[in-house]
Amino acid sequence: MENKVKLKGKAQMTVNGRTAEFPVYSGTLGPDVVDIGTLYKQADVFTLDPGFTSTGSCESQITFIDGDEGVLLHRGYPIDQLAEKSSFLEVCYLLLHGELPNESQAKTFNTTITRHTMLHAQFDRFFEGFRRDAHPMAVMVGAVGALSAFYHDSTDINDPVQRLVASHRMIAKMPTIAARAYKYTSGQPFVSPRNELDYASNFLRMCFSVPAEDYAVNPVLARAMDRIFILHADHEQNASTSTVRLAGSSGANPFACIAAGIACLWGPSHGGANEAALKMLSEIGTVDRVHEYVKKAKDKNDPFRLMGFGHRVYKNYDPRAKVMQKTCHEVLKEVGAESDPLLPVAMELERIALSDEYFIEKKLYPNIDFYSGITLKAMGFPTDMFTVLFALARTVGWIAQWQEMIEDPTQRIGRPRQIYTGAPRRDYVPMSQRG
Ligand code: SDX
Repeated sequence: MENKVKLKGKAQMTVNGRTAEFPVYSGTLGPDVVDIGTLYKQADVFTLDPGFTSTGSCESQITFIDGDEGVLLHRGYPIDQLAEKSSFLEVCYLLLHGELPNESQAKTFNTTITRHTMLHAQFDRFFEGFRRDAHPMAVMVGAVGALSAFYHDSTDINDPVQRLVASHRMIAKMPTIAARAYKYTSGQPFVSPRNELDYASNFLRMCFSVPAEDYAVNPVLARAMDRIFILHADHEQNASTSTVRLAGSSGANPFACIAAGIACLWGPSHGGANEAALKMLSEIGTVDRVHEYVKKAKDKNDPFRLMGFGHRVYKNYDPRAKVMQKTCHEVLKEVGAESDPLLPVAMELERIALSDEYFIEKKLYPNIDFYSGITLKAMGFPTDMFTVLFALARTVGWIAQWQEMIEDPTQRIGRPRQIYTGAPRRDYVPMSQRG
């Protein structure tokens, strides 16, 4: 990666009587940054920003988000155009290589991914170590981490060829592992990938086909699945991507870094929100109870939050949520679930939230997780598989960001500091002298 920040000027900070000066850089789009890397050296103080609300961790050329305008670009291309006109594997190529592929590059890339979809035969026995009632995300964290025990020839992070092979293997094998996590926890036999099927169709078949009968992929659902993968592919420096970058900054192998990203994504504030949002809609149950839950969400003394609403960056409608809502209606119509009782609950919740002063003032809009749960349920996935699907799609984003970090000449191990408010130095107290 070639660093492309442009020096724009200088910033000064005076603290405890000492004045420090810092370079101000501008990028292609978005806010300028103040490089405070020499603050401690100049003024003997740290900054403090626990949620990183005003802190950039890196320079990146992959994804840009304008939260106020509700804009999401992947290598400059708007998410709604990619969702409408591209395919998930084409978006994978774009995220990894920075440009849309030409015909020959697309063909080579698709063939490469297709030929990496199988797992080592012994890998299937790894799943046997889990209880059948394990949460599929627990299986994913363990299984993806275990890939480093099988594919030693793509763990040397200093070898660009091995990094590319690991990237291809991760993108290709995640659907196979995710489908196995579903089959294992549902007690059905594993289904091998088929090379004649496209990425999304292959995944649906590995999840839903059974040996007892033929299975035909529904093209409308396959297109919806592919679009859902595109919507979840990457999202700048979110919590799980930052986890992958931090793990990678120590030199950990790519499989271990992706496993760390999966673990972070599992949380209900992040990738677990789609599962939590559907559970919330089911708990609300009927349209007439929506008001009661909106009231709870606004009550400062009640920890309840509307799952699928709000976002650290988007203070406008999440552009992915609009495409997700359209896909939701398409899928419900295709499977004849337009009468899903949760849909009117979701639409009434959205209507109230978008007109309620509390949500308007706090700029809380539906995010991608709000409609994805209803859609995935209609496609036949159990609730506990929703975050697995998010992890499957986000793997390409994690890998692209990990590659970018490794290739960044300014990259160093991430090691934040702190403000210490614990006990001052004190001597050890023998047991006989303690209270
Ligand atoms: C994803 O970062 C990414 O890009 C993530 C993601 C990706 O693609 O990687 O986009 C995917 O994680 C989407 C977000 C999914 N999470 C949820 O839907 C869970 C519900 N949302 C919230 O927990 C919350 O909105 C967050 C975690 C998403 C954002 O939290 P922030 O930015 O730290 O905001 P905050 O918690 O400081 O909230 C600001 C205010 C607070 O009120 P005050 O203390 O200012 O009075 O808004 C309120 C919050 O109480 N608030 C909500 C709310 N979310 C925030 N109130 C009710 N319901 C909510 N959902």
